[in-house]
Amino acid sequence: MKLAVVGGGSTYTPELIDGFARLRDTLPLAEIVLIDPDAERLRLVGGLARRILARQGHDALVTTTADLEAGAEGADAVLVQLRVGGQAARDEDETWPLECGCVGQETTGAGGLAKALRTVPLVLSIAERVRRVSPDAWIIDFTNPVGIVTRALLEAGHKAVGLCNVAIHLQRKFAALLEVAPDEVHLDHYGLNHLTWELGVRLGGPGGEDALPRLISAHGPRIAEDLRLPPAVLERLGVVPSYYLRYYYAHDEVVDELRTKPSRAAEVAAMEKRLLEMYADPALDEKPELLARRGGAFYSEAAVELAAPLLGSGKGPGGDAPVRVVNTYNNGTLPFLPDDAVVEVPARITPGGARPLPAPAIDPLHAGLIAHVTAYERLALDAALRGGRERVFKALLAHPLVGQYAQAEALTDLLLAHNREHLAWA
Ligand code: G6P
Ligand code: MN
Repeated sequence: MKLAVVGGGSTYTPELIDGFARLRDTLPLAEIVLIDPDAERLRLVGGLARRILARQGHDALVTTTADLEAGAEGADAVLVQLRVGGQAARDEDETWPLECGCVGQETTGAGGLAKALRTVPLVLSIAERVRRVSPDAWIIDFTNPVGIVTRALLEAGHKAVGLCNVAIHLQRKFAALLEVAPDEVHLDHYGLNHLTWELGVRLGGPGGEDALPRLISAHGPRIAEDLRLPPAVLERLGVVPSYYLRYYYAHDEVVDELRTKPSRAAEVAAMEKRLLEMYADPALDEKPELLARRGGAFYSEAAVELAAPLLGSGKGPGGDAPVRVVNTYNNGTLPFLPDDAVVEVPARITPGGARPLPAPAIDPLHAGLIAHVTAYERLALDAALRGGRERVFKALLAHPLVGQYAQAEALTDLLLAHNREHLAWA
């Protein structure tokens, strides 16, 4: 099997390679191609990737190239994990919204819109070129904002699934707290990418006993601490929101905090510099500890666990198709959303794609916000596909964290001023 990684020069790639090596029985890869425009990063990351595989006795071939078509040709799956403008562009997304009293974040709010505008056209053109050389390849999109990018890919008719590590991270965490194997934990994980709630934590599979009430009563304060929300909020919700919900439930508090500290992008840029220095060391042959300080925990497991059933590998004898949390078309799963919205939900995965499981009823407390952000995402995608100041303004006006015309107006100006070099139409 051949897998190509677009954005293969990312400092995250060693995490991915480490997972490919450890989980080779689930996903037997013969060839891994790292594709990236940055030759120096490819050299450093490619070198470490080969050493990680060699140390773990994996004989997959690792090649590197800047040529997308050459790299993607014949691939069974293409993982897309790119960041237009790098951490410098992210730094701006995290900063200018604060001038209007709005959260500055890479995927949430006005910063997330800027990222969508920069990213959607590039990912679409990459997917188009990949389709020409490998029409049957699955595209696994890690590129943020995953919900909007996945919707763009699906609307363009690509064989695409969107993936994020928030669900697998919680699955692993809850399994540890409950002292069971991760595979034993099925999450009733519902919403949109970076806007989800764990409505149930089922033991043994989708229909199993719900351990969520017990989890919250035994470990509520610990879970709340990770979410950086007061334990009382978690108890009153009775479900576990993703940590991205803090940007909504504690918006003003987050804004105050962000105003007084360096951006996450600045922190990450410093880590990346250090990581690349470490990758240059020919004695290094495992992913360094420092990588764990990035947000990508279990990212490689998530990729392998999704790619394997998409490529028809690693299925247990006689078992049902495995369930994975993915971003895919709603198709009636959440009845209050359009069928062509992209939702993040548990779905059965086969080589034919993702088929969401039937969802439980969603409390209006969550459904309202999900519907609101879905409408924003539709308008954000329109702005990304067609450009124009008015479309940017409308997307911002529709966002629940903006909503007022004066702010939407000012944020539109800031967004355009900070992103002109990345937007062909601006
Ligand atoms: C998690 C999210 C990703 C996000 C990342 C940020 O993994 O699921 O979508 O990009 O965190 O991590 P960073 O280390 O870049 O702040
Ligand atoms: Mn994510």
